[in-house]
Amino acid sequence: MYREIKLCRACGAANLFAEVMDLGTQPLANDFRLPGEACNGYAPLKVLYCQGCSLAQLSVVVDPQILYSGYPYVTSRSNTMLGHFALLWQAINIECRPDRILEIGSNDGFFLDYCLQNGAKDVIGIDPAENLAEIANARGLFTIPGIFNDSNADKANRHFNGPDVVVARHVFCHIDDWKKFVVNLDVVCRKNTLVVIEVPYVMDTLERVEFDQIYHEHLSYLSINAMNALLDGTPFQLHRITRFPIHGGSVVIMLRRRDAGVTADASVPKFMAEEQNEIGHKWAHFKDKSFFRINKLRDIVNEKCAQGLVCGYGASAKSTVWINACGFKRKHINFICDETKQKQGRLSPGTDIPVMSEKALHTAEYAVLFAWNFSEEIRRKNADWKGEFLTA
Ligand code: TYD
Repeated sequence: MYREIKLCRACGAANLFAEVMDLGTQPLANDFRLPGEACNGYAPLKVLYCQGCSLAQLSVVVDPQILYSGYPYVTSRSNTMLGHFALLWQAINIECRPDRILEIGSNDGFFLDYCLQNGAKDVIGIDPAENLAEIANARGLFTIPGIFNDSNADKANRHFNGPDVVVARHVFCHIDDWKKFVVNLDVVCRKNTLVVIEVPYVMDTLERVEFDQIYHEHLSYLSINAMNALLDGTPFQLHRITRFPIHGGSVVIMLRRRDAGVTADASVPKFMAEEQNEIGHKWAHFKDKSFFRINKLRDIVNEKCAQGLVCGYGASAKSTVWINACGFKRKHINFICDETKQKQGRLSPGTDIPVMSEKALHTAEYAVLFAWNFSEEIRRKNADWKGEFLTA
């Protein structure tokens, strides 16, 4: 079901690993199954830090076939996400006015649709979740079902030769073989193609103690220094780095081909220097800080359970991490409400806690806000609810 990693995915070092986090053996965060259905199994959730290039990565890689078949994660239609798309589109348009966009990990095509509505002329998606690629194709967004491998890079090239922009939003850290990813980027990118990679930013994860970003799909916790180490000796270089608030703090890493002759923006050395001063120290304290938060939420929920019905809000992957780290069962969290139809009627991985529609919130006195990254929007939309949101 999984294999242990032996080498740093970015710099190739073999023995520079320090263990910086261990959440034990955990279920797969998006393995929402129907009652009575067998789960896809459990795997260790441990993070190793490379003292060479500062990449943090999981100690194991779970078979992607298991992780991504029948994938329930659908890009949020929230105003928060639309606001982010607007900012990202603006950042891309400062670099170039893209006609042709290739998105790797295009999910159900929500971002590509946004691009078409805002001036792009032709788009292609590639996504391994066949159920989502089907939805995108049915909506007229040409989507290749599968991972970004040699054959799908060729297929994309046959559709349009050389996109203006290649976008990879929150997919890069799900990929095991980065060297191959860069080789395939080389196949699809022409001289002036802009590459836009958006990931949760490790410095936000560390500063805000977001240990719930750690689950089996997130193989890596990427720093700019690690990305720079990966690109060493490849046709690509760091071009511009920008932080965005989405998903608890993300970073957009823009790459350009070296032979395009474009000078890198001042943000590149700035981010690298800031990380070098702090990242090792922050990882060294991360585990203790995380367990402080876990214990705190456990205490809060135990106390509130005695006073009224407690539910969760947002059956996110993050909720699975919290729930299993705290050891919550249905007697603690009676249900989780979530707007995603694919998750409703299913059970939170590793537990007997069912996912219900958002309407169920009104039957609870307390709700643990697992989708804290959409906090403002969720609180606003449930302003008429008389209960109390809980967070650690
Ligand atoms: P998200 O943070 O997008 O993902 P991850 O699984 O990577 O942690 O998950 C947020 C969840 O919250 C998602 O399942 C949708 C749900 N949600 C609602 O139910 N209602 C809302 O108003 C919003 C904004 C999200």
